[in-house]
Amino acid sequence: MTPLSVTIEGARLTYGGVLLFSGLTLDLPAGRTTCLLGPSGVGKTTLLRILAGLAEPESPTMVRTGDGAPLAGRIAYMAQQDLLLPWMTVLENVLLGDRLRRSRPDAARVDRARVLLSDVGLSGREHERPAALSGGQRQRVALARTLMEDKPLVLMDEPFSALDALTRLRLQETAAGMLAGRTVLMVTHDPLEALRIGDRLHVMTGRPAAMGPALEPAGSVPRRVDDPGLLALQAELLRRLAE
Ligand SMILES: Nc1ncnc2c1ncn2[C@@H]1O[C@H](COP(=O)(O)OP(=O)(O)O)[C@@H](O)[C@H]1O
Ligand SMILES: [Mg+2]
Repeated sequence: MTPLSVTIEGARLTYGGVLLFSGLTLDLPAGRTTCLLGPSGVGKTTLLRILAGLAEPESPTMVRTGDGAPLAGRIAYMAQQDLLLPWMTVLENVLLGDRLRRSRPDAARVDRARVLLSDVGLSGREHERPAALSGGQRQRVALARTLMEDKPLVLMDEPFSALDALTRLRLQETAAGMLAGRTVLMVTHDPLEALRIGDRLHVMTGRPAAMGPALEPAGSVPRRVDDPGLLALQAELLRRLAE
């Protein structure tokens, strides 16, 4: 899969007469992970929804791709709510994309789904319904479903928010490995998570919201959690978030 660069330019959106943002620009370099931080309500989810084609932005918003072709059909989106279908089993939820494309998953796809479920620590739970799982387990099913989609652009909205600290660290590594080479935009509330996983970090603040300059920590991802450089950058991020 050729890595794809994506840019959203001059993004503008108003909800109920309130200007959420205007003139907002964000570059997503090809094959890199960009992390987006910002206070609740600033518009992070809305920006992801615009990229996913789920929210209608206003003029003059432009979404451009490096190859000039439209984004439709080339995005995997993991929403902030897990959006699992309650009447389907865990395995069927992971294979939902196949079903939506009306292709019956073959044995190789089913095997892949099982491996992903094992990678996120849910072996043996394939035939349960989402209601039987905890919030963190449901989030891991949603993560497996996102990783199952073989798309060049991956949008993830707080994908690890419901996980305990250790599971979170482990899954950050797992996801970073699987997403290598894809263009990823990940929203997170956790500065340290952004510093571990992000090639680039942006902080979005204010109303109307402005996009802060890119921060590019040294080293390759996933960075070690005890990397001394990360602590200094964490302080810088917290300062930007408080502005
Ligand atoms: N569909 C919608 N209709 C009206 N207001 C919305 C809608 N979606 C989001 N908002 C409002 O837009 C603002 C930004 O929301 P959101 O993008 O979810 O923020 P974040 O993800 O940064 O917490 C909030 O004030 C929210 O209430
Ligand atoms: Mg949100």
